[in-house]
Amino acid sequence: MTETLDLETIREFSNAVFQAAGLTVQDAETVTDVLIHADLRGHGSHGLTRIPIYAERIKAGAVKARPDIKFDRPSPGVLVVDGDNGPGPVVSLRALEAALDVARENGVCVATVGHSNHNGAGSFYVEKAVAAGCIAIAMTNAPPSMTVFGGRQAVLGTNPITFGTPITGDTPVLLDMATSVVARGKIVEAAKRGEAIPEGWALDADGKPTTSGVAAEQGVVLPLSGPKGSALAIMVEVLCGVLSGGRFAGSLGNLYSDFVTPQDVGHFMLLIDVSRTHVADTHGDRVRELVTALKDCALADGFDAILMPGELEKGREDRTRQAGIELPGNVIADLDAIATGLGCAPLSGLIKEVVQ
Ligand SMILES: NC(=O)c1ccc[n+]([C@@H]2O[C@H](COP(=O)([O-])OP(=O)(O)OC[C@H]3O[C@@H](n4cnc5c(N)ncnc54)[C@H](O)[C@@H]3O)[C@@H](O)[C@H]2O)c1
Repeated sequence: MTETLDLETIREFSNAVFQAAGLTVQDAETVTDVLIHADLRGHGSHGLTRIPIYAERIKAGAVKARPDIKFDRPSPGVLVVDGDNGPGPVVSLRALEAALDVARENGVCVATVGHSNHNGAGSFYVEKAVAAGCIAIAMTNAPPSMTVFGGRQAVLGTNPITFGTPITGDTPVLLDMATSVVARGKIVEAAKRGEAIPEGWALDADGKPTTSGVAAEQGVVLPLSGPKGSALAIMVEVLCGVLSGGRFAGSLGNLYSDFVTPQDVGHFMLLIDVSRTHVADTHGDRVRELVTALKDCALADGFDAILMPGELEKGREDRTRQAGIELPGNVIADLDAIATGLGCAPLSGLIKEVVQ
């Protein structure tokens, strides 16, 4: 049965699980915040459903609970981060904070982040950079699940690109997209529920198009718009895998089945501190002007508004903050199992306490 949970209950539960797995209080809160952020924005595939696998990997030592994250500045605008196989959200947030300092000092920062792990929804980091006054681009590579255009083997990740800008007013302009037709997490969720997926999302293990979630999970997800998504994913590998000194081209460790090989995920961030540029005083207003012009465009049949990237997610976030996060029964059961295994109170118990 689906339950609607208030944010405080979820936060308390998740923090307890990650601390029991070995994280510090602060790092447990960071991982929790990243996962809740995805659920709030309607991307449940990158939300609380990841608690069990994140916590199991930390507990098993496949992800270091107490990483020694290192920073280097080979030139004024370049930041090199070694994540020491720490949790992806922890490594990414520390890298972002350090990159913001460099951008404030230097006007721009190019950050390459190596030896990290799955870091969730890219919008978490870019939203913070935008709030700090930066135009920001963030990318991450991911374990192999997508094929290259023309191929049938998993030689690329779904390598998302996130891109945001400050704007005057509260309409977000924040693109956050996998370079696959769909984030693979959505196929994993469909497979878990035994549901069908739309045509064109995936090939099965024999390289044939499929609409079965289960068959798709065993096969490969397809790149967004054929050769174009494939090309974007290749460029993400260049910036995240090659530049960071980490793994690339399908050699990243599997998140779910490989508890021995570090995932060795790489991230990339480019921050432009608008206050340090020639458009310091005008940028936000001019982006607002751009958005107004686009929203004034005559509508095609079947549309009742033109939305900017990130606007759907912001609407969902505003509603979900009020209403609470809905979690299906199977996800709650998985969360109960990991909590119990780590000696924590199961989530279903906390829900009952809230209801009583
Ligand atoms: N860490 C990882 O390894 C990894 C891998 C893949 C995806 N992800 C994350 O998964 C999440 C989901 O990615 P996705 O590709 O499924 O997102 P999506 O396809 O739901 O949305 C992609 C973009 O399109 C915009 N959009 C969607 N509908 C729109 C509309 N009607 N009008 C205007 N804009 C619209 C959204 O605002 C968003 O910016 C992201 O947060 C991404 O970072 C993470």
